[in-house]
Order: sequence, then structure tokens, then C-alpha cells
Amino acid sequence: RTAYVNGEYLPLDQARVPVMDRGFLFADGIYEVAAVLGGRLVDNAGHLARLARSLSEIGIDNPHTVEEWVRIETDLVARNELAEGLVYLQVTRGVAERDFSFPAAGTPATVVAFTQAKTITNNPLAETGAKVVTVPDLRWKRRDIKSVALLAQVLAKQAASEAGAAEAFMVEDGAITEGSSSTAFIVTRDGTIVTRPLSNALLPGITRRAVIALATEFGLRLQERLFSVEELHGAAEAFYTSASAFVMPVVSVDGRTLGDGRPGAVARRLRELYFTFAE
Ligand code: PDD
Repeated sequence: RTAYVNGEYLPLDQARVPVMDRGFLFADGIYEVAAVLGGRLVDNAGHLARLARSLSEIGIDNPHTVEEWVRIETDLVARNELAEGLVYLQVTRGVAERDFSFPAAGTPATVVAFTQAKTITNNPLAETGAKVVTVPDLRWKRRDIKSVALLAQVLAKQAASEAGAAEAFMVEDGAITEGSSSTAFIVTRDGTIVTRPLSNALLPGITRRAVIALATEFGLRLQERLFSVEELHGAAEAFYTSASAFVMPVVSVDGRTLGDGRPGAVARRLRELYFTFAE
């Protein structure tokens, strides 16, 4: 596999970042993940716009123009002959003597990128549906920033794995914030799709935005509002969205079966619509 580090393409196993990188020492950086389908990036303008916003929110100058980012991404897709999978981008505040405050102006950011082959279209999990568990949301208060500080999400996903589940939905003040690496949705018994409104409490999902637009375009009822763990347990359906999962139906929550235990009709419809949009 070929990776990208600060302007160079090199074999992934030779890609290195110095110990004094602020990403390593402080998780002082931002990342993005975009899907590749049929060799093409999905909704990439949205991902690059969110990258720019995240960087700006923590005061890192965006090291590249949109055109340069697209060039790096498409070069990596080509060099890795990636048909289906993900492109990962990361920018940190660079290499400097360990000191909490920002390094001297002009310290170059560290830019790293690589691809991951992954089955998105024929993901068997989408056929059976995913199990999720709920866990407390232990994160900081700026979850709208796609920060590489992911310890709470690592612990949440590990709790899910240990429970035999694919994803953890995080809970704050009794309401679901989002999945550990996805946006959470329910479908109420009257067929309304519900997802949490955007705020500092969750990441503005690029897939979320597309799915909301598709639901609206195709006349599905949708509400952006908080929903509780109890509502999730009693929902007709649930699903989660992300660049890597697209639309993933949920069939069990905290060990209780949802609906008839199979992917729901609304989730399946949205998954299909999203594939058509992504292609
Ligand atoms: N995660 N919420 C969180 C906390 C996420 O980490 C992600 C994405 C999402 C969904 O965002 P989008 O639809 O733009 O992918 C929501 C990526 C896939 C990851 O960390 O691998």
C-alpha cells in the first residue's frame, strides 16, 4: 500500500511521523474519512469542507487548497488501485518541542493520508442488520470538530465489540448523541425518521446530510430532535450512517430485538437511495 506523508508518496510500512508530532503527543489534529465507490470519492466536497472547518475551529491553517486535497486523494486511489473503500486524511499542528500552547507561527502542519480497501456495497452486516449497545458519552464538548482525540470512541466501540455488537450509541442526559463513529437515527412507530439536530454535541455527518436530503426529496417524514434511550428501545427501526457504513440497519439494541429482528423497510430504502446517490 502507498501512503502520503508531507508531500511524498511511499510504502505504508515506511511512512513515519516523528515522536514530537503534536498529533502523537496531544492528539492535536483533525482527520477526515471519505468513501470510495467504483474508484470515485463519495460526497468529497462535503468532507473537504468539514476538514477546512474543523482545522479553522482549532486554529490550524489548512495546508492545502481543495484542488490539492483532491489531487492527493485521487493519486492515492490510483496508486493503490482502490475500487471500494476509504480515504483517510489527517492534519496535525506539526512537530515541535513539547509545550501545550501552539508552536511558533510557521511550524508546518503534518499531513498524512492513506487508503483502506473495504467492502461497502456487499457488506454482509447490512443484510442481517447490526446490533448496537448504548454507552455513556464520555467526550469533550466540541464534538462538532472531527478531532483525532478519539479515546472515548475507542472505549465505546470496544464495549460494543465485547457485547457482540457492531456499534455503540452514546448517551448524554438520557438522549442519544450519536454512534461512536456514526450518526444515529430511529424510525418511530408512526414511520417518522428521527435524528438529533446539529450542535456542538455531535459531528455534522456528511452521510447524515445526504440521507436527510434524500428522505425529504422522497417524501419520507423526518424530524430533527433529541430522542431518548427509551425511545430507541421502543422504536420500530433504527439505523446509523457514516462514510464507511453508508446506511446500516440496526436490529437489536442492548440485547433487545428491534421490530421483527430484520432490517427495517425505511432503513433498507434509505440504503438503496444512498447507493444511487453515491454512484
Ligand atoms: N466516522 N459521528 C462520529 C463521531 C463519527 O466519527 C462519524 C464518522 C460520523 C459520521 O460522519 P460521516 O457521515 O461524515 O462519515 C458521525 C468516520 C467514518 C471514522 O471515524 O472512521
